[in-house]
Formats: sequence, structure tokens, C-alpha cells
Amino acid sequence: MRSLRGYTLVLALAVAMPEAIAQEAPQPEATTKLAERVSVRAKEFMVASAHPLATRAGYAVLEAGGTAADAAVAVQAMLGLVEPQSSGLGGGAFALYWDAALGELTTYDARETAPLAADEKYWLGEDGETMEFVAAVVGGRSAGVPGTPKLMETLHGKFGRLPWAGLLQPAIDTAEQGFTVSQRLADAIPQAPGLNTFETARSYFFDAGGTPLAEGATLENPAYARTLRLVAEQGAAPFYTGQIARDIVAAVRTETNPGLLTMEDFARYEVIEREPVCIDYRQNEVCGMGPPSSGGLTVGQMLAMLEAFDLPEMGEGVEARHLFAEASRLAFADRGMYMADSDFVDMPKGLLDRAYLAERAALIDPSASMGKAEAGDPPWDETKLYAPDVERPRHGTSHFVIVDGDGNAISMTTTIESGFGSRVMTNGFLLNNELTDFSFAPEADGKPVANRVEAGKRPRSSMAPTIVFRDDRPVLLTGSPGGANIINYVALSLVALLDWNMDPQEAVDLPHVVNLNGTTRVEEGDGAQQTADALTALGHEVSIANLNSGLHVIKLEGGELIGAADKRREGQVMGR
Ligand code: GLY
Repeated sequence: MRSLRGYTLVLALAVAMPEAIAQEAPQPEATTKLAERVSVRAKEFMVASAHPLATRAGYAVLEAGGTAADAAVAVQAMLGLVEPQSSGLGGGAFALYWDAALGELTTYDARETAPLAADEKYWLGEDGETMEFVAAVVGGRSAGVPGTPKLMETLHGKFGRLPWAGLLQPAIDTAEQGFTVSQRLADAIPQAPGLNTFETARSYFFDAGGTPLAEGATLENPAYARTLRLVAEQGAAPFYTGQIARDIVAAVRTETNPGLLTMEDFARYEVIEREPVCIDYRQNEVCGMGPPSSGGLTVGQMLAMLEAFDLPEMGEGVEARHLFAEASRLAFADRGMYMADSDFVDMPKGLLDRAYLAERAALIDPSASMGKAEAGDPPWDETKLYAPDVERPRHGTSHFVIVDGDGNAISMTTTIESGFGSRVMTNGFLLNNELTDFSFAPEADGKPVANRVEAGKRPRSSMAPTIVFRDDRPVLLTGSPGGANIINYVALSLVALLDWNMDPQEAVDLPHVVNLNGTTRVEEGDGAQQTADALTALGHEVSIANLNSGLHVIKLEGGELIGAADKRREGQVMGR
């Protein structure tokens, strides 16, 4: 193992002189949004994340002999600085960690929690009607207790090898020296309603005249550097029992849409180890995140239904996309009815029951769309209680994948929910708006909605970090941002890689067709109209849309690591 000192120096050089690390690191891709890309190949280790500086921070850790957990800490610390609109210390995450020596997969739920003072009427206005979405997002009321700082500490405590403080140093240095505002960040600022509402975020993302930061501007964040220094010295404790928690509790008391978080909410917060949700799919075991994420279950349902059709023989095309959209309708109908934080609601035990899913698959007609799907009746221990929830598209979130030199691997999806979260900023980071992932309406037709707000509950997520195993060894890591679309993005990447044997970059760049049990959306671009017309002829109501996935994939094959970063975003893969 290289000394921490040596590795910190490499990072300092990387920030000051990107070419220097580019020379050291084989295959660092030049990445430009929407530029054509090819898969990156390596032998020892690899990292793929949503920003080149985050990927480089992770790469330097791996090069210094750090584990996938060490690299994840460095990547997350950097993402919170350079992609602040998507994830960070003020948000939450789900992570799957493969420990190669023990041969064990562990999944971590670091989802935000609702305040103890919250109840099911949290998102109802004084008139008893559900609040308007943007009005609910902007302000401290939408923020839950962040889980990401404790997850970083947990991953390092269980699986880390390099000293904690050094993992944060690259982000501290970059925050102090400044980083270049990317096109994606610059484009996102004017598109975030209410980002100029509160002084701290306003003065960070806009100039004194109210003009948003431009691409190419240099942005320093001394407050973030101070926060990370505190975390380097004291771990996550300041976030849960110390000064940062007190600052967040104060910051969420915004004049409009104030929050209810208290120090007790922070002191009680826990990162929870959950059972992985795994399903066999054509000789593979596909493992994902269980509740409060709907990701693993919904992807699993889709795959189990699709296994009834010969997708490998069919290949990519409208026939397969129709089946995919229909399977997704059925899975989203169950998701809306049954899936929520299982620590608070009884969920059917049979959502992945093969006989049940065979019955569901039989509802799919290869020659015509079923239109809107109804939830099924999966095997169940308790009386069915719930009413369906409503889904809204979201555009925040980030995903990264890492394999280290010892074969340990992490697939982690991390978020502050919408782009720029609640818009409330403190100590150099934005607070999440994860509480708007709850159903605003607590009931429908006299029945409770499973994903209604409850004190201390975690809002349902769509995040779907995934690791696929064959013969008990990982063969594939995937995941994406994209709100509820995540489930379709991840499922398509799995079908493309496992059924169509596509190269990772080809799989990631495949145009999307998404259905969340409503309109079938076809990704804009070459061939979109033809696909839309063909799906319309099969009875789909179709629209052409911007479907902005951010898939990051690593495939392990024949002693090689083959990685891809979605061309729709600014990510980068590096490996050695
Ligand atoms: N906030 C995005 C998700 O959890 O699905």
C-alpha cells in the first residue's frame, strides 16, 4: 500500500494540473457531454462517476491501495462539491457493497427520515388540499435528516483501509482552490425554480446582480472545506449530535415553508443494513436495494416478467421495447399500491413470487398495449389496506460504481432529490428535499396510501444500485439517477448487457423507452419518431421526451473491467 502522504500529493497535483494525473493514469477519457464514447478497459481497478474530478479522486485512492469503500468516500466528498445539485452531505443514499474476501454482499439504507413531529397531514395546506409541488420543495419543510455523512463513515469503518482524513483532503483542497463550473451545473441553475429564494444559495449560485454562474467560472467553497475539515477530525458526529446538526435545525426554519427537524431527529438517525433483494434472471442473480427503495423490487418484477419472453432471440427493437413498457406498467402498478418503508407498513411478502409474476406476465399481449395496469394481488400475510400513489418525474441524483484491486465493489446511488434539493444551504452544502418523495395525499378512497408521511419514516425511493452475480461472483455493477425513471434505465441496462450481450457503452447509450404506468415516453433523437409510431400502432399513448439517464456501469469479464459513463451527462470512467 502506498502511504497516505504520497496519495494526497497525487491528488493535489491532479487538481492543479489535470494533465499530470492523466499521464499517470492509463485510459483517462476526455469527456464532453454528448460526445461519442467507448468503453474503458482495465485489469486491476476502476471507478465511474458523474464528474471527472470525482472519478479522479476515487482513482487516486484506488491507486494508493485503498478499498472500494475508501474510494467511495473520496468520490462522494468531491461530488458534493462539484455536482452540488445532485448529491452531498445534506442528502441520502443507498449502497450495495461486495466484500470479496468474505464473499458477502451488504446493502446500506442511508435514506433521509421524516421529523418525529411529522404526521400524515404534512403535505396538506390549511385548506386540507395537497400542496403544490414546487411550493413544497422550496424551503426547510422538504428536508429530512441526511444519511450520507453517516454512510460515508459506516463504509469506511467497516471496509476502509486508508486513513479517513486523507480521503476528504482532495475535496477540501478543491473547495479551497476552486473548481470549474461545468456545463451541466451552469445549465441547471436557471432551471431550478426558487434557487434564489434564500440568501446562502443565492449568493453561491448567482452574482450580486442575480446572474447565474456561467460554465467555465471558477467556484470556491470555503464553507464546504471547513465542514469537511471538521468531519476529517471528528467523523460524522457533528452532523448528528454537534454543530452541523444545530445549524441544519436552524436553517430549515425558513420563513416560507419551514421544517420541523429537531436535534432529537438527528440523534436518533441510523444507517440501516438491509437484506439485499435478489432475483434469478437467466443464469444470473440480480441484487438490488430493498425498501424503503422500490428499486430492487420493481426492477426485479420487470425482469421476472420479461423472462417469460425470448428477449435474447428477439434482440433490440420495437417488439422488445413494447414488452419492456408493458412489464414496467405492471410493476409500477404494484409499486404505487404496495411499496413504501417496510418498517412502517406491511408489504406483501410475495412481490417477487415467481408464480405470481408468471400470472402477471401472462397479462402482457405481444401485439397490443394493455393501457393502464392495475395492481395485482401478490401473496400476502395481512389484509390489503392500501390505495395507489401518484408518481412525479424528478431530475436530481447521482450514481457511481467502483471495483478495487482486491475485487471489492460498490454500487451507490446518492441524492438530494430534485436538482438543488430544498434550495436551503448551510455549511457549504445543500439540504435535500427528500420528504417530497412521500405521497402528498395520505389516503384515497378512504384507504391509506402506503407511502404517506409518518413520524420518523423514510420516503419511498426509486434508487436502484445493482450488482449482478454469476457463480457467486460479481459480473456487473449498474445504476442511474433519474427519479422514478431510474427503474426503467437500470432494467434496460440489464437487458442490454445480459440478454443482448452489448458492450457497456453501447448498453448505456441505448435510447430509452420508459413507461411508469401511463404514457410511453420515447427518448428524443435519431429514430425516435419511428419508434413512437410503431408503439402507437401497438396501442400505446406515446410522447417523445428528454430522458436524461446517468448510468454508470462496470462489467467484470475474462479478468477485465469494462466501464461506461452515460454520454447524456458529464461522467468519466478511469481504470488501471
Ligand atoms: N429522490 C429520488 C429517489 O429516491 O428515487
